[in-house]
Amino acid sequence: MKILITGARGMLGTTLQQHLHQHELLATDLPELDITDPAKVDGVMQRFVPDLVVHTAAATNVDGCEADPDTAMRVNALGSAIVAAAAGRINARLIALSTDYVFDGSAAHAYHEFDTPAPRSVYGISKLAGETAVRAHCPDHTIVRTAWLYGASGPSFLHTMLKLGSQAGPALKVVHDQCGNPTSTDALASLITRLILHPIPGVIHGSCEGEATWYEFAVAIFKAYNLKRELKPCSTLEFPRPAPRPANSRLDNRVLRLAGIAPMPHWLDALASYISECKLNEERSG
Ligand SMILES: NC(=O)c1ccc[n+]([C@@H]2O[C@H](COP(=O)([O-])OP(=O)(O)OC[C@H]3O[C@@H](n4cnc5c(N)ncnc54)[C@H](OP(=O)(O)O)[C@@H]3O)[C@@H](O)[C@H]2O)c1
Repeated sequence: MKILITGARGMLGTTLQQHLHQHELLATDLPELDITDPAKVDGVMQRFVPDLVVHTAAATNVDGCEADPDTAMRVNALGSAIVAAAAGRINARLIALSTDYVFDGSAAHAYHEFDTPAPRSVYGISKLAGETAVRAHCPDHTIVRTAWLYGASGPSFLHTMLKLGSQAGPALKVVHDQCGNPTSTDALASLITRLILHPIPGVIHGSCEGEATWYEFAVAIFKAYNLKRELKPCSTLEFPRPAPRPANSRLDNRVLRLAGIAPMPHWLDALASYISECKLNEERSG
């Protein structure tokens, strides 16, 4: 299969390239392919003629989006429209990545695909506009919403915890009133590989099973890496950020269940796999 990846040097894109290496891949990113440049995107699509486009490119700095809404909308909304329209014109399939931030986080349950989005941050608004554009411009599409990603190349919460955890200092305060599904790029790339074989139209949620607060995620990381710095739970109010964060970011992978697709791993198992893979890679590289 011919597969074009946008944002291929990002955290998910890097893992995807490893998972999809048996296909004919065109890995694109800035600066060679800016998804906000319609002529360039069309040109690349018309020359390569992919069967499938995996669209991961995005402005992902949540606080950066809040500070610069035009860039957020240009990349996440307009850029997604441009990629979707170009894919639609050559009848390619499109798998586009989206986020838990499309929800406001006020529900008591884990959000499923039939819940109504109501984003509160610029990032969430821009990603939801990107979803709408994908639906409008590329008939053969799957939108995969995921959350709390970490992967080998970072940056991610896990990378931040490893850095701070190995520094001496006072107890590290970590937010304990926001809940979500820590998800490895490896588990997500495996899901995307399964979706290539078993296409599902529309929106699906794809985050690891089980749930944790950021504090609980940090505790698991510190335990796995034997980091000794003290961790202290704190509230969102004690750790204010420019962009609002959903208190409840939990995603229910309901459509995966309904479609009979193999479930995502539990986040603790995915974390253990990630750590053993990193150790193996370190041993291999001496
Ligand atoms: N990370 C998470 O926790 C998370 C959670 C939920 C959903 N998602 C979604 O999952 C997808 C992958 O996330 P990720 O963490 O892998 O993101 P990432 O590491 O930030 O990668 C995104 C890539 O897109 C590139 N990019 C930015 N603007 C571009 C443009 N105009 N044209 C082409 N490429 C551009 C970035 O380049 P630069 O680095 O040079 O800007 C980067 O290489 C995104 O759609 C994101 O919204 C992520």
